[in-house]
Amino acid sequence: MMEKKNLVELILLCLILVFEGHCIQRVLCTSVTYDGRALVIDGKRRILQSGSIHYPRTTPEVWPELIRKAKEGGLDVIETYVFWNYHEPVKGQYYFEGRFDLVQFVKVVHEAGLFVHLRIGPYACAEWNYGGFPMWLHFIPGIQFRTNNAPYKTEMELFLGKIVGLMKEENLFAAQGGPIILAQVENEYGNVEWAYGAGGPLYIQWAAETAVNMNTSVPWVMCAQSDAPDPIINTCNGFYCDQFTPNSPSKPKMWTENYVGWFLAFGYPIPYRPVEDLAFAVARFFEYGGTFQNYYMYFGGSNFGRTAGGPLIATSYDYDAPLDEYGFIRQPKWGHLRDLHKAIKLCEDYLVSSEPTHEQLGSKLEAHVYYKSSNDSAAFLANYDSSQDATIQFNRNSYFLPAWSVSILPDCKTVIYNTAKVVSQRTVADNPFNSATTARDTSIAPSSWSWYKEHAGIWGNNSFTSLGLLEQINTTKDASDFLWYTTSIHVDESDASNQENEDHLFLVSLGHAALVFINKQVVGFGYGNHDNANFSMTQKINLNPGNNTLDVLSMMVGLQNYGPWFDIQGAGPISVIVDGLRNGKTDLSNGEWTYQVGLEGEYLGLDRVSMANSSLWTKGELVPVKESLIWYKVTFLAPEGTGPLALNLASMGKGQAWVNGQSVGRYWPAYLSPMTGCTDNCDYRGSYDASKCQKDCGKPAQTLYHVPRSWINPGENLLVLHEEIGGDPSKVSVVTRTGQEICAVISQADPAPVDTWKLNSELTPNSPQVRLSCEAGWRITSIHFASFGNPQGSCGAFAPGACHSDVVSIIEQACIGREACSIPVTADTLGDLCPPVIKSLAIEALCS
Ligand code: GAL
Repeated sequence: MMEKKNLVELILLCLILVFEGHCIQRVLCTSVTYDGRALVIDGKRRILQSGSIHYPRTTPEVWPELIRKAKEGGLDVIETYVFWNYHEPVKGQYYFEGRFDLVQFVKVVHEAGLFVHLRIGPYACAEWNYGGFPMWLHFIPGIQFRTNNAPYKTEMELFLGKIVGLMKEENLFAAQGGPIILAQVENEYGNVEWAYGAGGPLYIQWAAETAVNMNTSVPWVMCAQSDAPDPIINTCNGFYCDQFTPNSPSKPKMWTENYVGWFLAFGYPIPYRPVEDLAFAVARFFEYGGTFQNYYMYFGGSNFGRTAGGPLIATSYDYDAPLDEYGFIRQPKWGHLRDLHKAIKLCEDYLVSSEPTHEQLGSKLEAHVYYKSSNDSAAFLANYDSSQDATIQFNRNSYFLPAWSVSILPDCKTVIYNTAKVVSQRTVADNPFNSATTARDTSIAPSSWSWYKEHAGIWGNNSFTSLGLLEQINTTKDASDFLWYTTSIHVDESDASNQENEDHLFLVSLGHAALVFINKQVVGFGYGNHDNANFSMTQKINLNPGNNTLDVLSMMVGLQNYGPWFDIQGAGPISVIVDGLRNGKTDLSNGEWTYQVGLEGEYLGLDRVSMANSSLWTKGELVPVKESLIWYKVTFLAPEGTGPLALNLASMGKGQAWVNGQSVGRYWPAYLSPMTGCTDNCDYRGSYDASKCQKDCGKPAQTLYHVPRSWINPGENLLVLHEEIGGDPSKVSVVTRTGQEICAVISQADPAPVDTWKLNSELTPNSPQVRLSCEAGWRITSIHFASFGNPQGSCGAFAPGACHSDVVSIIEQACIGREACSIPVTADTLGDLCPPVIKSLAIEALCS
């Protein structure tokens, strides 16, 4: 039965609905303004934590789960770019379906009760193909991107208007009751403005006016744009932004890209950023008057299909983010940041009340205090020395501050959080998909593969001939990664008698890779790298008397997405020379070449499900390995469970993979990173940069490739691989996660969980706790280790110390069969074998 109170409320609501529709709007709508201290939402200054999640880098089925985890992690805002090239693939034809359903994404965020920062750009950068620009834009006569150029400005304004209009139609701006509180125009133009001469500042002026005239009712930002015209807020991007000041005292201090790690490129080691340093950077920012901070990325996801930017951006966009590529929580990163957000939230009223006062407490030691009134304040204590720990005196108390750390004191007295003290749960395996205890690897029977060996060189009748070497992107219009360059080399019969002959081919290319064939036989493979896509090849070749064919397959691995004038950087061979004793040096560069865009297999559509039963495919006992330009196909059964899948393509060379016709992305495990530049235990102390902490030197950047569960059918599934340089498909396997190995180690001296803190509770201080929790759907099924004392080692390799109580049964009691459990780290709960020692509780458990 409905309670009387509820009934009255319902009737009232209906009356309002009937008689005053606009009132509802007024009740639900949100006003967003700003002042010099903060963003002001509904009249209240706010401290906001934000995180980037780019909607097409996962599937819509996963959006709600990611947003839930982001909210639980303490975020208030989700930030995303808008990807013009996929929303308007053909001029005037729009696409907003599936992974590109922007409206749906914004609504999902809204339903979770979070805000949205919409970075419309329309230039995105983002390691996204062509920085998010559609290819057709490049072919508009007279166009120059990102400068004071009329054709460009026309198109940019149309697209900005399209997106703003769409959001308005759906009532998604805050003033309409929607979640969008901020919008961005352009992206980091300040970094490249110098290269556009007088056009740069004029363009920025125009972009600002154009954006403001769209009347979104929310503030606009320009990131990394110190000359952002009023009222646009210029914001900071970087690893640290505490020393940033906006270009007017009436603008708040905002940080739009705080890199949680870095992106990955083929041929590079894997970058990561220790959470202690990330938390330090965030705490420093709010200590210094920041109001809004965004993690780039909170969830990075995957560059499916040909969405990856370039050159040579990998398919994984994991970014070492708090939510990993597959959407799983990455610990201790997620947990330590969640604790940080809670600690900052407890200070919010203080932070927005005033500007901080600064107190130097020693060399590289300082305090910032935020006052609500003269005897009511919150404080941040910082030690920004990169190696010296310190004990400081503050307000007549003494505090220990580890090097490169910030302590947060919401009552100006109690340390409830220190950035260097990680008390959250950790993960045992570095990559849980690679661990036998938490992953199931299903290999595919080697005999079930079919293949199709495609033609090298010109394969169809839509080829064309031209003098000289054509620029690749202008020729393919990015319809394919591939362009065939074919010519013939003539060797005089009279010279053929000389057996000593040795010919060489020299090729210089602007990028990104090339496979060279002489008389249809592969003779070489060359490639550049992310920092320099140019490369040259010197190849010994054997020519026959008479005519020889030379086929060069030039390959793109993601169009450039960053830098001044990046949109007109070319690709493909620029010089091809044959040098031999017989003919001397012949420069073929200006000769006649025949061109064909794309591969035969692409033309045939071998990636498509409808081609799976085609007679083109050959089936036999022995699948050919180490073959270039070959297509492979197999079916595999849907693995059990509902979680995401990974394809293990470690045995393959370079190519692309499709599951049920959906492109998983480009793969290139044959490209190993350099042997040097990695550190096992990267010291979080001291300034971070993108190359400071790297792992997996001398290995492929990526062997596992994410396949979203929603792409999988019950029963049989089709896997197609296109191998370009040679691999072994018989070793390909499908991997799923079956659980997680979690652990924690907390000392009696550690702070209690942030959320147990209450003002004036110092008389009965809360005890520290070990808190364990599993991903939704899993439960704690076993405790592998539990010691209270002075356990040695670290997660995954704990061992009892000299003081050791085996507390396995206590922990089992508290945790087995549960999704989450918490254990106070006290002698009361755990017993006490060695009273004088300050003890720690270390636990290792399995969720499955
Ligand atoms: C920034 C850019 C982002 C992204 C990032 C690196 O310069 O604004 O879009 O590319 O670098 O991940």
